[in-house]
Amino acid sequence: MSDESPLLRSLRAAVAAAPEDVPLRLHFAELLLAEGRHDEAVGQAAAALQHAPGDPAARDLMARAMGLPTQPPPPPATAPTPPTPPTPPARTPDEPPAFDWAAAEQQVADLVGPRFTDGDDSATGTGGGMEAPLTSDGLGDPGDASAWDVDAPGAVRLADVGGMREVKERLEAAFLAPLRNPELRRLYGKSLRGGLLLYGPPGCGKTFIARAVAGELGASFLSVSLADILDMYIGTSERNVHDIFETARRQAPCVVFLDELDALGAKRSRMHHSGLRNVVNQLLTELDGVDGDRNEGVFVLAATNVPWDVDLALRRPGRLDRTLLVLPPDGPAREAILRYHLRERPIESVDLGRIVKATEDFSGADLAHLCESAAEAALLDSARTGTVRMITTKDLLRAAKELKPSSESWFASARNVAMFANDGGTYDDLLAHLKKKRKL
Ligand SMILES: Nc1ncnc2c1ncn2[C@@H]1O[C@H](COP(=O)(O)OP(=O)(O)OP(=O)(O)O)[C@@H](O)[C@H]1O
Ligand SMILES: [Mg+2]
Repeated sequence: MSDESPLLRSLRAAVAAAPEDVPLRLHFAELLLAEGRHDEAVGQAAAALQHAPGDPAARDLMARAMGLPTQPPPPPATAPTPPTPPTPPARTPDEPPAFDWAAAEQQVADLVGPRFTDGDDSATGTGGGMEAPLTSDGLGDPGDASAWDVDAPGAVRLADVGGMREVKERLEAAFLAPLRNPELRRLYGKSLRGGLLLYGPPGCGKTFIARAVAGELGASFLSVSLADILDMYIGTSERNVHDIFETARRQAPCVVFLDELDALGAKRSRMHHSGLRNVVNQLLTELDGVDGDRNEGVFVLAATNVPWDVDLALRRPGRLDRTLLVLPPDGPAREAILRYHLRERPIESVDLGRIVKATEDFSGADLAHLCESAAEAALLDSARTGTVRMITTKDLLRAAKELKPSSESWFASARNVAMFANDGGTYDDLLAHLKKKRKL
């Protein structure tokens, strides 16, 4: 029942092909909303607003997707129009087609009004009492002797992530575009504030993508493995969680990346350890803090291979309320990964296209392994014959034959969950993928 319909699928493709077609995108978003896929609908509406700032249909859809009361109720046709500004202030015609934040804010004032009533000079970001400005130096306290390593705003950008167009588009619309702009953050309020949970088979780029997101936001990157936190003394785990978020706040803008999020849920149910409950609660407190002004500039991303083991409380609205499926790399992504791993190896006229074709479903880690094996074969050969030879297409193809995609077992268990425990449509993306691959 929660399968993505063929209509949705083709609309999704059509939108991807014509990202600037606003009516098309809104139609798609409308259908998503009708299916209860609010997050995606919000993302699509946000993307539509980027192309058509102030579009009334897009605004209306955004409000509905965010579950905002559509207040005030639409005035009766006969009543005089309320004093809401009907049009944005005139823009000079030669202004670049950037999003006119001030105008957009005014236009949606009737939808999100209460949040902005105390300040009308939105462009300066000083009006609302809700938000503290981002620390502009982003460096935090230099004397911060935190145990948590924070990477300075990194060099990895989304452009470094090969292929994965859908993932990038989704990230852009649902997360990056709104977050990059303080005005838009204020405009959209809470609903876009919650974190994003990346899930998918192991070795397919979740960590890599999280890093790229930090790079895109110009944010520092604080990566923590929850398994590590839990392996410390139980009594101190909660403190650790708190410290992590405190560190991130000092270093804002900062992406907090919670890796192996499932460690909490899984261990908790297995061991019934009361200490773990406290860790979950602490994490909830910190995540909820993301809505307060203290956490302005702290972005939470999390990753897991087993989203079905993640404590449900962590997935409630305003927390890690959006999921993003990170599948094994597609063709262009595989090519990028192969290029990367072959960049310093002696290769000779390697037909990348063929290798890409022969490595369907291989994860990033599998591909690294493949290059390793091929190099090993060439090296052994060279040692045996006494003549150095290059790595060839043949070596790589042979290695591909010998390797099995490591994601297979993941898909086997994911399939059951997607089919029988797809509560609220969380795994619709996964179902769509399995269908496409004829694995259902
Ligand atoms: N789309 C991509 N473009 C370029 N490199 C990629 C891409 N996807 C994955 N990689 C490479 O594959 C490697 C494995 O990815 P990563 O460690 O991010 O996977 P993961 O999903 O976090 O795995 P795990 O579930 O084991 O934590 C990375 O080091 C990265 O270099
Ligand atoms: Mg990882």
